[in-house]
Order: sequence, then C-alpha cells, then structure tokens
Amino acid sequence: MRKLIVAGNWKMNTGIEEGKKLAEDINKYLLSKTLSENKKIIISPPFTHLYPISKSIDFSKIILSAQNCASTENGAFTGEISAKMLKELGVTTVILGHSERRAYFKEDNETLFKKVKIALKYNLDIIFCVGESLEQRESNKHFDVIKEQISGTILKLNKDEFKKVIVAYEPVWAIGTGKTATPEQAQEMHQFIREKIKENFDEEIANNTTILYGGSCKPSNAKEIFSKKDVDGGLIGGAALKVEDFSKIIEAL
Ligand code: PGA
Repeated sequence: MRKLIVAGNWKMNTGIEEGKKLAEDINKYLLSKTLSENKKIIISPPFTHLYPISKSIDFSKIILSAQNCASTENGAFTGEISAKMLKELGVTTVILGHSERRAYFKEDNETLFKKVKIALKYNLDIIFCVGESLEQRESNKHFDVIKEQISGTILKLNKDEFKKVIVAYEPVWAIGTGKTATPEQAQEMHQFIREKIKENFDEEIANNTTILYGGSCKPSNAKEIFSKKDVDGGLIGGAALKVEDFSKIIEAL
C-alpha cells in the first residue's frame, strides 16, 4: 500500500523560537492521534531551524525535511548546505525542484538531477516537485511540461533509487495565490504522472509511488482533493504555518 502524506513546506517563514513552538504544537497534536501505519506527516522548516527542532520532536510522529540541498558534495560553495550536513542533523527527507527554486534560483533539470543523486547518496527521501505555469496551462502545454520535468530527472533513476522519491504536483499558478486546481485537474495530472512512471519502470512501482498535490491546499478544500484516486496527500505552504489549519488538513487525509 502506498504512503499517504501531509507535508508542510514552511518556506522562509517563522523565527527559530516560533518555528520550534509550531513543530512542538504539531508534535503534541500528533501524540493525541493514532494515524494508520501508511500515513506520514512531514515538516520542512528553514535550515536554521532544523537542529533545534530535531531536539524537540518525536521522530516516530514527525518526519523532518529540508527545503533544498546543494548539488555538490562539499567544497568551496559559499552559502550552500550539503546533503551530508542534513543527514547529520537527523533530516531524512529533502524537497527538490520546488517551482520557487526553479524560477528564482534558475534550477534546471541538470542541476536538479545532480541534487537528486547526492540526496540519494546520503539516503535521503526526496519530495520532487513539478508544475506548470499559468501560461503553459492556458496554451495546453501542461502535460508536455510535466513530462519534460520528470523525464530529465527522476525517471532517469534506477528502480531502487526511484523508491525514495515522492512526487509533488504543484501547478505554479496555484501556489500562494489562493487559486487551487480543481480536484479533477489534480486527478488528471496525477494519473498522467503515474502513467509515465509505469511506462518508465513498471506497474508495481507506479502504484507504490506517493503523488502529492500542492498549491493553496487548505482545510476547506483538502478533503475533496485528497479523495481523488491518484492524489495521495498534499504539500502545504501557507496553511502549514498554523497548527489549527495543518491539523485539519491531516484530518482530511
Ligand atoms: P501554498 O504553497 O500552499 O502556500 O500554495 C505550496 C507550496 O509551494 O509547496
């Protein structure tokens, strides 16, 4: 059975104390719940928060993720954080290919593939984000764009490597805009991605791959989106910053 996941992407938000409190509140909420074995909760705070948070959460309840890692292993790369450094902090997952990284930091397939390989070398799970812009959707190129984003990266992995990958479909026009993809639009793209995984690997791997939806997912729409056959949870931005909202999204899983 594939995993169902709610992952919070905090982006560049919260101070350290505030973030630690948020993580502790999520932890407290999860301690009061019994989630079925296939449901997992991930939080992805800024780099500076990872160490203090790693000391104050229960790893059996929350998976700790980073939002990025370097494409090289070590050396003269001022300002970068390596996969090895993350691993040493107790981080087990990393988000790669977020549209904000692609757009503002010019991360392309080649760079992302290097990051994916390094993350795998340090045994990190990967939340690999893909998504089309509004212009690409309106000109009916969205399937081609997603195909190109996965073909040039995660579909180049071997089967064993690919098992460490969670895919997140995040249409750029829905991120932080309040405009959510309809459950049907999400389902259609998730099904397409699963089909491509099947063509590239096999049916078993496709069925076992978790595909998350991201983009203005909130308590009011999470249940409907998650109810779709190929939607296995969400990557949550804004609504992951309040325990009340995040816990309601977890309830929807
Ligand atoms: P949002 O962000 O939920 O604030 O739209 C999602 C994301 O970018 O991961």
